[in-house]
Amino acid sequence: MTNILILGANGSIARAAIDLFLKETDALLTLYLRNPSKLQNFSSDRVRIIKGDVLDSEKLKEAMSGQDVVYANLAGSLEQMARNIVDAMNIIGVKRLIWISSMGIYDEVPGQRYHTMLDPYRNSAEIIEASDLNYTILRPGWFTNKDEIDYEITQKGEPFKGHDISRKSLAHLIVKLAVTDGLEVRHSIGVSNPNI
Ligand SMILES: NC(=O)c1ccc[n+]([C@@H]2O[C@H](COP(=O)([O-])OP(=O)(O)OC[C@H]3O[C@@H](n4cnc5c(N)ncnc54)[C@H](OP(=O)(O)O)[C@@H]3O)[C@@H](O)[C@H]2O)c1
Repeated sequence: MTNILILGANGSIARAAIDLFLKETDALLTLYLRNPSKLQNFSSDRVRIIKGDVLDSEKLKEAMSGQDVVYANLAGSLEQMARNIVDAMNIIGVKRLIWISSMGIYDEVPGQRYHTMLDPYRNSAEIIEASDLNYTILRPGWFTNKDEIDYEITQKGEPFKGHDISRKSLAHLIVKLAVTDGLEVRHSIGVSNPNI
């Protein structure tokens, strides 16, 4: 069974992914978040909850112990969070990281330049890419609540295709990445539905 640590577990994509992990895998989930009272009640014995801030390095290292995969679904001080996560993973010896970023960090979206708005995303991705971790950085387009799983992946260096992506598609991809050895390892992937 895969042990998965979900950082920022109350984020909109994390919530969709947690439901899918519970439905479609036998993974053991550790949900790490600042305000557990915001979470829905999980009846599953495969869910453990830790109240913590990713900026708290000691607590983060404790939560990493025994994990196979770290899935970071964060917003805010992303550079500092990326540093703390990479350091904690190196110290505890966890290799696999799934990191949610954004389209546009390499100016790869045709006709779009997002500049400073994306600096925390760009800089945090650089920190992760410079690490020795088995990371996958996801660069999704704008989220929708469409009830569909339909997406295409573009690799770093390729132009981004499309614009939008359903939360359901992202959750599907995250679960697949977390439970499939070697999938998209050390890749930074654009994710969108090229038809919308
Ligand atoms: N919306 C879009 O169309 C779009 C498109 C591309 C990329 N993105 C980016 O994709 C990422 C994931 O999106 P999302 O909608 O799932 O994000 P979200 O709902 O904003 O969730 C982000 C989570 O990060 C947590 N967080 C922030 N600082 C933290 C800290 N120091 N320690 C622990 N947790 C912390 C927040 O926790 P609290 O509940 O405690 O605040 C929140 O639950 C975000 O960075 C978002 O900007 C969004």
